[in-house]
Amino acid sequence: MKNKSVPIPMADLVGQYHTIKKEIKKALDDVLESGRFIMGSQVIALEEALSAYSETRYAIGCNSGTDALQLALMALDIRPGDEVITTPFTFVATAEVIGILGAKPVFVDIDPVTYNIDPQKIEKSITRKTKAIIPVHLYGQPADMDPINEIAGKHGLPVIEDACQSIGARYRGRKVCSLGTMACLSFFPSKNLGAYGDGGMVLTSEQELEQKIRIIANHGQDKRYHHSMLGINSRLDTLQAAILLVRLKHLDDWSEARMDRAALYSVLMADMDVVTPVIAEKNTHVFHQYSIRVKRRDELQLYLQEAGIATAIHYPIPLHLQPAFRHYGRGEGSLPVAESVAKEVLSLPMYPELEEEKIHYIVGKIGDFFGL
Ligand SMILES: Cc1ncc(COP(=O)(O)O)c(C=O)c1O
Repeated sequence: MKNKSVPIPMADLVGQYHTIKKEIKKALDDVLESGRFIMGSQVIALEEALSAYSETRYAIGCNSGTDALQLALMALDIRPGDEVITTPFTFVATAEVIGILGAKPVFVDIDPVTYNIDPQKIEKSITRKTKAIIPVHLYGQPADMDPINEIAGKHGLPVIEDACQSIGARYRGRKVCSLGTMACLSFFPSKNLGAYGDGGMVLTSEQELEQKIRIIANHGQDKRYHHSMLGINSRLDTLQAAILLVRLKHLDDWSEARMDRAALYSVLMADMDVVTPVIAEKNTHVFHQYSIRVKRRDELQLYLQEAGIATAIHYPIPLHLQPAFRHYGRGEGSLPVAESVAKEVLSLPMYPELEEEKIHYIVGKIGDFFGL
């Protein structure tokens, strides 16, 4: 393959659309003909399908993964003065919603192998103000939930799984979203189960929380024009739900395809000076991202870019060092694992349709970079 004639993207949403175009068009047409654009039957069908898929009793559609996290925190009455423990090595939304509600995100360093929150470091961050713990299942791999739940149980704290990147992954045989008090999914288009716009979902097996989340997500309304609490407007569009119902049927095949591609990348890079993703023994990993860890990361990224290969950095600055979060009091050097990992991770193209020959080409270029 020649440079630039074969640009390889991080993901190929249009290519994937072409594989399911007929089903999608039919699903969209059904909604358009129904006229039920808000809270149509497809939303309920998707909630049922996803709670079954995720092994939870309830699922509540909403506007985005960010809203799902905010709704989960609102259902717990998180308010100014409260503290919520989470990871600094995640997409900003996880911690942003804590701050937006006036509470304080308390960042705990990550495990150097999985890059998920390090359970050993959680307990010493718990104070009288701590009200919840939000582990993130990063890149497609579950956080180590047993010790997290044990600590949470000991202190009477609810656990909210941020499963936005990991739908379908398993921890000790159990699906993510069924491992905590509540869980949040994102249907951002590039997610493993993506919509064609924004969308999200909160999942739980606790009926009281389910009812409260439904009310909050719909303007705090428990009966028509009767508002028992302050809420927001965060509902999943019927059109997006219809798209997601089609895409859900393909999700497990797509996850398998991601796993196969990840395995190929890792085998081909086995002798290179890069750290390939490690799948913890208790886990399956659905490879939302395939992220390597490498010294001279920025140079490699540039080199690949020149060879027509897109890459991305998830995430270049841990949240405690972001200007928006610095006032929470964690400075440089306070979370050393997250800080060093952030300097070295690089996500390579990863999508179910990524051809094998392209993986060979990408790895070949990485080898060239190292002079192999
Ligand atoms: C870990 C994580 N949390 C939260 C979100 C927020 O989801 P959304 O973009 O749907 O608001 C995302 C994705 O964007 C994410 O990757």
